[in-house]
Parts: sequence; C-alpha cells; structure tokens
Amino acid sequence: MTSVIVVGSGIAGLVTALHAAERGLEVTVVTKDELSQANTRYAQGGIAAVSFADDSTESHIADTVTAGAGIADPEAVRVLVSEGPERIRELVQWGVAFDRDASGEFVKGLEAAHSYPRVLHAGGDATGTAIEQALVARVAARGVRVIEHAFLEDLMLEHGAVVGVTLITDDATLSLRADAVVLATGGAGRLYAHTTNPSVATGDGIAAALRAGAAVTDMEFVQFHPTVLAAGEAFLVSEAVRGEGATLIDDNGYRFCFDSHPDGELAPRDVVARAIARKMAEQDGRPVRLDATALGGNFLATRFPTIDAAVHDRGLDWGNNPIPVTPAAHYLMGGISTDLDGRTSLAGLFAVGEAARTGVHGANRLASNSLLEGAVFAARTAAALPPSVMPTSGQLPHAPRTANATPSADVAASFPTFSRAALQDLMWNDAGLVRSAAGLEHAASVLAWWSSLDRTPTSVAAHEDENLLLVARAVVDAARRRPISVGAHFRVDSAAPETTAPETAALAREAVTC
Ligand code: SIN
Repeated sequence: MTSVIVVGSGIAGLVTALHAAERGLEVTVVTKDELSQANTRYAQGGIAAVSFADDSTESHIADTVTAGAGIADPEAVRVLVSEGPERIRELVQWGVAFDRDASGEFVKGLEAAHSYPRVLHAGGDATGTAIEQALVARVAARGVRVIEHAFLEDLMLEHGAVVGVTLITDDATLSLRADAVVLATGGAGRLYAHTTNPSVATGDGIAAALRAGAAVTDMEFVQFHPTVLAAGEAFLVSEAVRGEGATLIDDNGYRFCFDSHPDGELAPRDVVARAIARKMAEQDGRPVRLDATALGGNFLATRFPTIDAAVHDRGLDWGNNPIPVTPAAHYLMGGISTDLDGRTSLAGLFAVGEAARTGVHGANRLASNSLLEGAVFAARTAAALPPSVMPTSGQLPHAPRTANATPSADVAASFPTFSRAALQDLMWNDAGLVRSAAGLEHAASVLAWWSSLDRTPTSVAAHEDENLLLVARAVVDAARRRPISVGAHFRVDSAAPETTAPETAALAREAVTC
C-alpha cells in the first residue's frame, strides 16, 4: 500500500492526512509536540470564504490580489477562492461549529482589506481552536497513525528523491521510509524577537527542504500583524476587533492610519503595521493604542472572549481604556515552492500550508486566507499523492544565491555570540518591518559568520536554532535580492512607493528563489 508521512499537525497537515486516509493510503502524521499544538490553534479572526449569496468569487479574488500588492499568482488565487466553500462545508461536516445567528445563518465577520464581511468564526475569536479540535477528533476517529513529540531531523534522500524522514524522539533517532513526504510544518515566526507564533514555529520543514536542495521562494515576504498586546507576553488582538470598529490612536489620541491609506485601520495589514511602526518611532518607541471603548465591555467579552481574558489577565480594561499594541511577526508568505497540488521541486516531496509557497498570497496575505489555504491546498495535495510523485515541471526557477562572504575574524569580533535571542534581535532590527541595504548587509554578515562556526546540535532546541539560522539566511538573502519595496517587504532605500508603481511592477513580480 502507498505510504505517506505528513509532518505537522495544523489544518494543512491534518486535512491532508484525512483526505489521504480517505483515499486508502497508509498515513502517518508526525508532530514535534502534541497533535493539537500548531499555529492553527491560535488563529482568532476566522476563515475567509465565499459563503453568502451577496458575496462573490470575483470579489474575494480581487481582495486577495490587491492585499497581495498585485503579485499573487492568479491561478492559485482562483483555486483558493473557488474551492474554499467546499472545504468550509467539509469542516462543518467534520464538526466545526462556526458561529451562527438566530436564523441559523453564519455570522459575518469583517477584517482588513476585505470588501465584504466574509470571515467565518467560531467561539467568537477561537476559530483556530475549534478547527484544530474537530480535526484532531476526526484523525482519532479515523484511526490515522500519529507519532507525537517527534522532531523532524532531516529528509532522507536517495538518487535525488525524498524517500522518508529521520526523526528525533525522546528515546531515539528513527528513520521512517515512505512513498511520499508532505511537509506541513508551518512558518517561522520564531525568527523574530516579537511574534504571535507559538514556540513550535521554528521553520523546521523549510530548513529541511533547503538542506535537501528543494526550491524555496519569496522568503523576503514576512507578514507582521499590526496589533499585538504590548503588555506582558505577546498576544494577538485580532484584526476582527478593528473590523468591528476599533481604532488606532497615538499618544495624542490622533487616528494616524488615514495618513497612510484611505481605508485607515482596515488598510492591508502591511500598510497598517508600517504606519504603527512609524508612529512608534516618532513617539520614542512607545506602543500605539487600540481604542475599542466604543464597542463596550459587554460586547467585547461576548464577541472576543479569548482576547478579553488575555486583556484582563494583564490588568487592562479595554471596555473603558485604549490598550497598548505593537506589530509582531505573524506569517510567512514565502516557503517551499510548490505547484497547485503541493508538488515541490524534489520527487517524493510535497509541501502545504504556511510551509509552502504557491504564490497565492503575493507579497502580503489577506486576513483569514491562511486557514482557507491550509484546507484547500491540503485536499488537492492529498489527491495528488502517489502514484504521481513526480516533481513539479520546470516552473520553479533556481536563481543563484547572493554571494555571502564570511567576514574576517576582526570584523566578526564585534558580532554578538550566537544564540536564539541574538538571532531574533538581529532579524527584528535588520530584516523586520522596515529594511535597508545597510541593515540587510549587516544581517547577512552576522548570519554568515554564525553559520561558519562549528556547532553540533545535541538537543531538539539546538536543532531548531540551526533551522532558524538557515531560514534566516534565506529571508535575508531574498530580501537583499529584491531591491524594491513590495507588500510586506519594505525597503527605506527603495524608490518604489507603498503601492507598486507601474514601472517597478516587472521587478516586483519576479520571484526570488533560493
Ligand atoms: C487575526 O485574527 O487578526 C489574524 C487572522 C489572520 O492572520 O488571518
């Protein structure tokens, strides 16, 4: 029987596993923590899909392309949007209880850059938890084999094809062979000092793909969520709060977002995040404030119970006072290059969800399109699994990497010692929301130096550090090779305005592949 290993247990991994099991394939899900511990579980705002009679596929497509700074892959976007409703019906069938009104209709949610309130949610702001729980329950009910607490050490390669994985478990290192491996390992939010992502988001799948020689594209496009609580541990405050009418104000109570975009607080995420970063720089780094007081404490507690609890845990009362917020790393638009059926440039290797790069998000993902991406491309990937394991056909350009000369020991003497915290600070300062040639050169030099030092990882945490280092190099390398600003990749030294000017469009469209 055809065997498949799915690495990762968020929506992308579990939907792939369920569809593959439905096809009668022998599926093993591998995950480095517990099955339910994935980025999916933390998604708040919801899942975007065309579910109402007065919405349209064309409108969701247009919003996705516009938010993506015009460079999203049109075919990928059409697939995402047109196959979305079927995946929503499936999730409902599998037990996801999206919020409904008294007449049984889905409750509509609005988020930034959507021209229609098409975001479905569950438990108010606990959409990811509801989806993850339903999928975990179904995986158990279907008897899919699961290996928890197993860290992906590497992909096994034979004659250029992926034939399995090596795993580090509590007891041993395991080699697991399969006809196909699907990487659904999510993104790498932990590259940055401030992030909405849980501790598991260390880019393990992307790093393993890079080591195996798979094409990886668009790594410069890192999305920063505009509103993360700047009190205590970072905690996401969903864009849906702004969708309900909350505003962003500076120290003087001024609503500054309209200075950057006519849609103000509901402009595309990259625009709002940069507007906040600029404002914070003007006010000596102090966070801006999210003013939800007009919505009232009762409404906030009912509509956003998870955020409400986190806000109150920090001693804040958002029903009566604006709360401090700051941007933080949230989502990676780039990843392992795939076609629209999850095939990578290596035979036997598939990728799906945040770990993959289909081009569907362009340079900036539209809010609540990520859960949808996970479900839609997972179903397609499962359908394409063996016997058709051929690599994607010749559409994944391999460009030469930027020369990254290792600095001399004299120069390197001024660099910080390698640690995860030092890496995260470096990425935050030099390859974050606002980038420059000088900052990226500095980051490249430090990363090259760290990479040249001898380290043999002897723990899972140390393997994660090496993965973060490798993925950081891919981000910085890609950022250096795109000298203009587009979407989430913003360079202060670029001549291009925030909205890509026609004369730079060609340069903006050219994909950067490592
Ligand atoms: C949010 O709820 O603001 C996050 C949703 C997303 O990342 O799409």
